[in-house]
Amino acid sequence: MVHATPFLLVLSLAMVALVPSTGKCTLTGHWINDLGSNMTIMAVNEKGEFLGSYHTAVTATGNEIKVSPLQGSQHRTNKNSKATFGFTVNWSFSDSITVFTGQCFVNEEGKEVLKTMWLLRSHEDSIEDDWKATMVGTNVFTRQGS
Ligand code: BTN
Repeated sequence: MVHATPFLLVLSLAMVALVPSTGKCTLTGHWINDLGSNMTIMAVNEKGEFLGSYHTAVTATGNEIKVSPLQGSQHRTNKNSKATFGFTVNWSFSDSITVFTGQCFVNEEGKEVLKTMWLLRSHEDSIEDDWKATMVGTNVFTRQGS
């Protein structure tokens, strides 16, 4: 019995490491991404719709950065676990629009993360310049204060 304790300890550590995380991941709250941008998502309603605000750390313009509104929705299934979602940020300080799409996960450290991909559409004056109007990228958001 004396030797069983270390064995059980090693076994339980191995199980924690191998079993995929089943923790909840919810969109509501304060988030920060890998660029240092801050985002707040308000309550998600019964239809999966939500509003929020976005304070980007960077801009493709020379304009002074201001907090901008966002609106989005999450899929009706998997509401509390690994939800897929999309949202649009309508920049208040530029004439661009960004759409994000992503999924909520709990990472190996047990922390909630939003893995996203985005398209940033800039305004162009002429159709000839359309080819250069869209940027694409990825951002990973982690919950602030966790
Ligand atoms: C603009 O420059 O016209 C508006 C700000 C765009 C900020 C982009 S959106 C994608 C990327 N992720 C961020 O957090 N900020 C940049």
